[in-house]
Amino acid sequence: MDILIERTADVQTITFNRPDKKNAITSAMYQTMADALAQAQSDATVRAILIRGSVGIFSAGNDLEDFMKKPPVGEEAPVFRFLRAISSAEKPLVASVAGAAVGVGTTLLLHCDMVYAADNATFSLPFSQLGLCPEAASSLLLQRVAGYQAAAEKLMLGEPFDANEAQRMGFVNRLLPAAEVDAFALQQAQKLAALPASSLRVTKQLMKRAAQHELQAQMTDEAVHFAKMLLAPEAKEAFKAFFEKRKPDFRQFN
Ligand code: COA
Repeated sequence: MDILIERTADVQTITFNRPDKKNAITSAMYQTMADALAQAQSDATVRAILIRGSVGIFSAGNDLEDFMKKPPVGEEAPVFRFLRAISSAEKPLVASVAGAAVGVGTTLLLHCDMVYAADNATFSLPFSQLGLCPEAASSLLLQRVAGYQAAAEKLMLGEPFDANEAQRMGFVNRLLPAAEVDAFALQQAQKLAALPASSLRVTKQLMKRAAQHELQAQMTDEAVHFAKMLLAPEAKEAFKAFFEKRKPDFRQFN
C-alpha cells in the first residue's frame, strides 16, 4: 500500500508509504487520499487528520512517470479531486514533515492548519524547472504567507530551501528533531480531536471563508495551465532529463 490510512483514536492518519520512489505520488495515491479525506469528512468519529511521510522523506511530489503516461484530464482527475478535498476540508489538518517535500509535497502544506517540520526537512517548488506552473493555489497562497518576492523566488527559481527558512516564511509552525516530529504532530492532532468539533469547524470556516472563492478560482486556472503545460515539449524534456539523470536543455524552446 503506497498510502496508509490508519486511525489513532479520533485522529485519521494519512501516511505516504512509497519510500523506494521517495513517496512520489501516483494518480492511484491521489485517489486514495481524496477518498480518505471524503470519508473523514462524513465520519463523525474522525475529529482531526494527520498527514505524514515515511522515515526521512515526506514526498517527491507528483510521480513524473505517471504524469507522463497518464496526464490528468478534466476536473475529476484524481490529483484535482485531492486538491479540492484538501483545500476544502472542514476538519483540522495537521502535517508532519521530515526530509524532502517537493512540489505538491510542499503546496499541500499551504492547506494544512498546522505544519510541524523536522530540522532535516527541505522544501521545493520546482515547477518552472519542470516546464510547469504552480498548482494547489500556491501561486496565491505562498505570497499571502511569505510576501511576493519570497514567493516569487521559490516559485520561479524552484530551488530547495530548509526548514528554518520555511518557518521564517510562515508556513511551518515549529521545528523539531526528526525523531520527534511525528509524535509531536500526532499529539497536536489529538489535542485538536479533544476540543469541541463545532468550535474548530466554525473557526476554520471563519478564517478561510473570505479567501475560499478566490482560492478555488485560482486553483481552477492553475489546473488549466498545468494540464496544458504537462503536454508541452518543455515538460517532456524536463521529465526525460530527470529519468536520464541529466540537466534539461530549455534553450531549444522559445
Ligand atoms: N517521480 C517519479 N519517480 C521519482 C520521483 C518523482 N517525482 N522522485 C524520485 N523518484 C524515483 C527516482 O527515479 C528513483 O527511482 P529508481 O531508484 O528506480 O532510479 C527513486 O525515486 C529515488 O530517487 P533519487 O532521485 O535517486 O533520490 P535522491 O534521494 O537522490 O533525491 C529527490 C530525492 C526527491 C530530491 C529527487 O528524487 C527529486 O528531485 N525527485 C523529483 C522531484 C520532482 O521534480 N517532483 C515533481 C514536482 S511537480
